[in-house]
Amino acid sequence: MCGIVGYVGSRNAVPILMEGLKRLEYRGYDSAGIGCVVRGKLKVVKKEGHLANLEAILPEGLSSTTGIGHTRWATHGGVNDANAHPQIGAGGKVAVVHNGIIDNYDALKKRLIAEDVAFTSDTDTEVIAQLAAKFLDAGDDPETAVRQTLELIHGTYGLVFLFADHPGLIIGARNGSPLVLGVGEGEMFIASDANAIVRHTPKVVYLDDGETVVVTADDFSTKDLRAAVVDKRVETIEWVAADTDKNGYQDYMLKEIFEQPESVARAFGEGGRLVPEFGTAKLGGLNLERRDFFDIRRVQIIAMGTAYHAAMIGAHLMETIARIPARAEIASELRCRNPIVEKETLYFAVSQSGETADTLMTLREIRSKGGRVMGVINVVGSTMARESDGGVYVHAGPEMAVASTKAFTSQVMSFVLIALLFARMRDLSLSDGKSLVADIGLLPDLMRRVLAQAEEVRRIARKYSSAASFLYLGRGPSYPIAMEGALKLKEIAYVFSEGMSAGDVKHGPIALVNEEMPVVMVAVKGDNLEKTIGGMEEIRARKGRVIAVTNVDDPRITRIAEDVIQVPETREALSPLLTVIPLQLLAYYIAVELKRNVDRPRNLAKSVTVE
Ligand code: G6P
Repeated sequence: MCGIVGYVGSRNAVPILMEGLKRLEYRGYDSAGIGCVVRGKLKVVKKEGHLANLEAILPEGLSSTTGIGHTRWATHGGVNDANAHPQIGAGGKVAVVHNGIIDNYDALKKRLIAEDVAFTSDTDTEVIAQLAAKFLDAGDDPETAVRQTLELIHGTYGLVFLFADHPGLIIGARNGSPLVLGVGEGEMFIASDANAIVRHTPKVVYLDDGETVVVTADDFSTKDLRAAVVDKRVETIEWVAADTDKNGYQDYMLKEIFEQPESVARAFGEGGRLVPEFGTAKLGGLNLERRDFFDIRRVQIIAMGTAYHAAMIGAHLMETIARIPARAEIASELRCRNPIVEKETLYFAVSQSGETADTLMTLREIRSKGGRVMGVINVVGSTMARESDGGVYVHAGPEMAVASTKAFTSQVMSFVLIALLFARMRDLSLSDGKSLVADIGLLPDLMRRVLAQAEEVRRIARKYSSAASFLYLGRGPSYPIAMEGALKLKEIAYVFSEGMSAGDVKHGPIALVNEEMPVVMVAVKGDNLEKTIGGMEEIRARKGRVIAVTNVDDPRITRIAEDVIQVPETREALSPLLTVIPLQLLAYYIAVELKRNVDRPRNLAKSVTVE
């Protein structure tokens, strides 16, 4: 986690860095800082808390053509000004910003202390700054000093260095944490994420692990660990900067919830992915030969957080539509079991950012054992997208709110397409395929109809906003939706909530139900409806306050439930794309009611790049 940004050119770096940090703040917001070179000296300003705190103390007229910036999500060392980045080496000749964790920092720190180096922070990062300072003092040029430092540190890092004696130069290094270089006209940018750069240039170079980049205003040179030059491709990215604005919404999360009809339409529409005449989907990025579809016996899907809930729905779709045994796994759990990788299993890694360390490391583990991993990823050019054997971009566009919404529905839609493709390659009939394609096409309008009920959801949110805890229940494809609804509420409203299978609740958790407990139940038309209604009766019999999200007009539901949120009907397999929306809105409005910072919930970061 943490966001890093750097600039070298002819403009004033300060506003560029601050604007870049704004776009990266989703990666962490415990503290922020910038460093630049002013008349041969490093000027570092850093402050605990949100970026606004840093903005408030920036000296007026601070100007420099070279600088680095950082927004922090604390790992080593508490949240305070001293532990904020940039960290500076003794003598004030070098400053560094870091995203990642240095595993051997303790041993290195002890060694440096024994050599009389005085530390000013509790961070692992300061070790990097102090080592680089030592090498510079010994007469190394900046590139050699950085290289020598990298040889000593073990761990994960995205790093950008700045040097007092070399204005017009920054050096980046990557191992396990993303870094992307933006190539402008007479100016260069570097950042954890292209988001911080797109406003200035669409031309980017993605660094790979083990690479360093020496950057000046007009040039850059990338090298590997052995200092051999690596030729990198300059890619052009398509995002327009306006995508990352709030467009008049109060926060990114609400904007992104309301964008879902369009983002889901992109997930199935981009590049003509639906083929109505053959009732199938075209997903060229999977790189699968026709006979692969017969050889695949199982599917395993790995992910974390919200993406894991999409993975659960993905597994459900692969089984019910494509009839392939499939299961979803929390990536970090699979990794700690030493995964059994099988030739006939096709693996999928689902991730909005494409950078989540738990998922990425598991992807690497599976691939190192010969497994084939497909990415279902939002961020184009992200590490997972580049390291997987193929995959599907979900095309949700930049997602800025920490709590994921539109990426989730686009991930689910991507699995609908994957399942449809596999099904048609195996035993789904043409007419059944055509009927599914037709139903998919209706979804954006149905989503708009759900969104039109936002005011009603807001009323319900107000009514229940003082409840101490919530249960969310669902069956079949609504089970992951219950989990996702509960996660949203935890994440942004800090209200304890538990999402679980409506079948499992009676095996223990029902003991929690009393007249104070709101129980959100998702009940959709299909195989699971009758049992879900039965479950509602059981909750009501124990005086639980049922809030039903349903697509059926059933008098039993209106009788049992205290509040009903009606969503349009669609087939059960597609229902998660509609039922999740009221749950996103419910969490959102409860959080607003409780005066939470919706886009930047406490303790979280959007992209968790540490394991
Ligand atoms: C973090 C975020 C979650 C997100 C998860 C997976 O924990 O706070 O909202 O779902 O990471 O992120 P990914 O980018 O891999 O989808």
